[in-house]
Amino acid sequence: MTSRYHEAHRRSLADPDGFWGEAAGAIDWIRRPTRILERQENGTGRWFPDGVLNTCWNALDRHVAAGRAEQPALIHDSPVTGTVQRFTYRELLDQVARFAGALARLGVTKGDRVVIYMPMVPEAAVAMLACARLGAVHSVVFGGFAAAELATRLDDARPVVVVSASCGIEVNRVVAYKPLLDEAIRLATARPRHCIILQRPMLAATLEAGRDLSWADAMAAATAHDCVPVAATDPLYILYTSGTTGQPKGIVRDHGGHAVALRWSMENIYAVAPGEVMFTASDVGWVVGHSYIVYAPLLTGATTVLYEGKPVGTPDAGAFWRVIADHGVAVMFTAPTAFRAIRREDPEGRLLAQYDLSRFRALFLAGERADPPTVEWAQDLLRRPVIDHWWQTETGWPIAANCMGLGLMPVKPGSPTVAVPGWDVRCLDAEGQEMPAGDVGALAIRLPLPPGALPTLWNAEDRFRQAYLAAFPGYYQTGDAGFLDADGYVHVMSRTDDIINVAGHRLSTGAMEEVLAGHPDVAECAVIGVADALKGQVPLGLVVLKAGAGRNSEDIARELVQRVRDRIGPVAAFKTATVVQRLPKTRSGKILRGTMRAIADAEDYRMPATIDDPAALDEIRAALAAIGYAAG
Ligand code: COA
Ligand code: AMP
Repeated sequence: MTSRYHEAHRRSLADPDGFWGEAAGAIDWIRRPTRILERQENGTGRWFPDGVLNTCWNALDRHVAAGRAEQPALIHDSPVTGTVQRFTYRELLDQVARFAGALARLGVTKGDRVVIYMPMVPEAAVAMLACARLGAVHSVVFGGFAAAELATRLDDARPVVVVSASCGIEVNRVVAYKPLLDEAIRLATARPRHCIILQRPMLAATLEAGRDLSWADAMAAATAHDCVPVAATDPLYILYTSGTTGQPKGIVRDHGGHAVALRWSMENIYAVAPGEVMFTASDVGWVVGHSYIVYAPLLTGATTVLYEGKPVGTPDAGAFWRVIADHGVAVMFTAPTAFRAIRREDPEGRLLAQYDLSRFRALFLAGERADPPTVEWAQDLLRRPVIDHWWQTETGWPIAANCMGLGLMPVKPGSPTVAVPGWDVRCLDAEGQEMPAGDVGALAIRLPLPPGALPTLWNAEDRFRQAYLAAFPGYYQTGDAGFLDADGYVHVMSRTDDIINVAGHRLSTGAMEEVLAGHPDVAECAVIGVADALKGQVPLGLVVLKAGAGRNSEDIARELVQRVRDRIGPVAAFKTATVVQRLPKTRSGKILRGTMRAIADAEDYRMPATIDDPAALDEIRAALAAIGYAAG
């Protein structure tokens, strides 16, 4: 039987030019592309190579022109400040055009980079769209990263201007952003010419004369700026994500493919129509926030909710239900962690009864594996489809999903269902041969990737090829392991590299090891991701001290925890380091991280044949048991 989904998927691969050429019709072009997919020698492709457009026009101006001027475009719902602010399409356009003028006054032009380091305030979305309006390339850095991480990104992106705020508000504290920004600029070699700082009433930032100006002053002095035409293949943004080292990867997104793919995804995957309300509880610093808080809803003429709060504690586990009811949300999207947090606080879901969810249709989950008990709990409570879908910063939109707009397929718990149209998902063995159905291997995508996926890494084409294309010629390597079953359902099991997923946040254990190794008393170390009931995984550091370190191990462990918080940021959730006598290794000296992780999680494991000294594993088991891991 061929469903609408099957027909769309088949056609997207058999006739990508026809499929995406048609989808491109939903976007306003300044010059309509005559070529759809330009294939390149190594199998990759560029989409809409002769198209010219402006992403901001498509997100704002066109809707104002088409009669949506008075419809809400963005609702800022902020329980941490006790405010709700609504912007119609006309109001958001006015703000964005003016802020584009402010950036232009500071010398920002097409192709220049602008780093945005902001909490979940509407000005973050305004700044992103203003960059898009100018053809400038934004790079949003998540607020939970420390100054050193921000500095690394400043050095790589080399922005002309940084846009930031005086503070962010967490449940338990006000986070002063400006000192972090000042420190990052001090650490960086590429210094921005100017910083625009949003002064929030909870905390005023000190501005540096000549370099810094307040958001209010910048806006007051500016006039509205028009949309600048850009090539479809020009970069819209760079978003840094964890790689296997401390040097993050600068994922590049281009204008044309991004606009076409996201617009298509709204109706076909999420089934959100123009005029409806979407609520994505994430952060603009992550790809989920870029795509489904800012760009996709606005490209669609929908209303987006930008939520400055948490699933619990702001003020309680009914926070999401309140937002859904207050704003008439049709579709919500968040990470499974958020639902684990809600379930922990309100296991019976009693708070739900207080709210009217009559307009709510579906919940989408992504960012980490959706564990079946959480999905089932959410489904029983909400009595609506709960849809797990799989994607990555690199891909920009879902690779596998139950495409609600194309007719829902039967659900298999633990699987994000099937490959989305445009994505040719395969499961490969180490030699690049396809695995039989049900066998676990590397999940890879046959090239070319669909529109919206990364064309390259910022200033690092060789790293792009090495990291993603080299392992399996003709395929993009996702870095995830899993299998395809006999019905073509995708099952995502784990990473093939040292990336871990903490509360839906992607982090590199390699980067944390670099920080630990920099401590003067540490001889060697390993960071592993251990199972956590709330966050999915949390990092755990195991360190061997230099001979004669002579200091109290607990003091050193405390310093190491602080060091990761200072260098990477609180988002790493690195709370435990423990001193061990030695690390288990293979005879060739490779640290057995996977085996240690299995011990910590009390999983069955096979003694590696190549282990140097099996007794080292017993020592690790004892050390982990002493801190509450390795049950049994
Ligand atoms: N600025 C500064 N600090 C931040 C921050 C930001 N934007 N975001 C998070 N932090 C801090 C937190 O305050 C916390 O610090 P702490 O160690 O002092 O408590 C730390 O970083 C870890 O944050 P978080 O992962 O949010 O954990 P939490 O314990 O505060 O909350 C959850 C747990 C489950 C409620 C939370 O992780 C959550 O809402 N997750 C939803 C998942 C999500 O949005 N994923 C995005 C991808 S879809
Ligand atoms: P990020 O780039 O931060 O979005 O993280 C992407 C990674 O998160 C993927 O490579 C997966 O390892 C994991 N991930 C995202 N969504 C899912 C999902 N639905 N199921 C399993 N893992 C997921």
